[in-house]
Amino acid sequence: MNDLAGKHIVLGLTGGIACYKAAELCRALLKEGATVQVVMTEAAAQFITPVTMQALSNRAVYGSQWDARAPNNMAHINLSREADAILIAPCSADFIARLVHGRADDLLSLMCLARPRDQVPLLVAPAMNREMWAHPATQRNVTQLITDGATILGVGRGDQACGETGDGRMLEPQELLDDVIAFFQPKTLAGQQVLVTAGPTYEAIDPVRGITNLSSGKMGFAVARAAREAGAEVTLVAGPVHLATPRGVRRIDVKSALNMLEVSVECAQSASIFIATAAVADWRPANSAEQKIKKDGSGEVPRLTFVENPDILATLAQSPRGRSGELYCVGFAAESHDLLANAQAKRLRKGVPLLVGNIGPATFGQDDNALLLVDEFGVKDLARDSKLALARKLIAEIATRTRARGQK
Ligand code: C5P
Repeated sequence: MNDLAGKHIVLGLTGGIACYKAAELCRALLKEGATVQVVMTEAAAQFITPVTMQALSNRAVYGSQWDARAPNNMAHINLSREADAILIAPCSADFIARLVHGRADDLLSLMCLARPRDQVPLLVAPAMNREMWAHPATQRNVTQLITDGATILGVGRGDQACGETGDGRMLEPQELLDDVIAFFQPKTLAGQQVLVTAGPTYEAIDPVRGITNLSSGKMGFAVARAAREAGAEVTLVAGPVHLATPRGVRRIDVKSALNMLEVSVECAQSASIFIATAAVADWRPANSAEQKIKKDGSGEVPRLTFVENPDILATLAQSPRGRSGELYCVGFAAESHDLLANAQAKRLRKGVPLLVGNIGPATFGQDDNALLLVDEFGVKDLARDSKLALARKLIAEIATRTRARGQK
């Protein structure tokens, strides 16, 4: 993906051991299509050399406000006007204090002060010892920085270079990258609580065997990520899959359809949007054996009988909150043929305002997909693309529809 194509990021480094992670962050930003201008404080250059950062960013690094390379000798103005964002990573306790006080006696703080605030957002990735982070002075400064319009990307928890353990580590480069990408996504679902089901379910036959399906969970995880990027609080109820939890998403792992129903019903109480992407097993063995079913050598095979699983989507769509529209329900349909007719019929059968059709064999396990959106007004095609790109488009469509309903 080129999620940062066309974006120009000023990457500011300040004095901290986490400077070593900034090298990888710089590469990660470039890989997503951004151009990166590195600006370093004097202290940062004690931890990593400008040569390293120049080689990685493919641009001369700036460090001094007296740098004669800028023809007008105004590096602070030139560099800050071109940027789509200034990202300070790592941002030391000292530099946070400087930002709060509007200091301007080195190039990076001068740039932050001189930037047009409504056009060039300031993103800050703090990095410091746990005591420094917990200190009331730092916490006060962080609060003030947020009031002044900066976005704090948070800190990680864990072992620190000083040998202590606690809050204050800089986030990992991949986490910062995800946060920067999310920052640029339109906040169409701000204030919404979104519930997503994803993946297959596993229906036990006995303690060691069960029935499942080939759903990878990728579409649902992409939908959860896209909803989070759009500003929603997201709960992801996931069947058994091996996928990383999208950043900022609350994940609850479940196994069977009955588990998924129970957790979803509970979580749906506070949700405003429910997106059912899970491939829930239609049936489960009527009785799951308590002990492993053994071969006894007689050649006799066990006879399984099945009962139908509850329909989670229909249950929530027909609940009082679903019916009143307080909970906007979106279903998925994986079909092998006649996608449009099947999707339209399924939308009515489930009683949901929006149903998203896809061709099962063309999506299971794949990284891309194509979607067909069916609602009461008609049909919309979302052409083949990566699952994340489609998920973002779907979230935008859902946001438009829920806004329109809210305005009725
Ligand atoms: O009926 P079918 O399984 O084709 O419906 C698919 C849609 O219904 C998907 O959104 C799926 O997540 C949801 N579903 C459900 N509970 C079931 C079966 C399907 O929530 N037991």
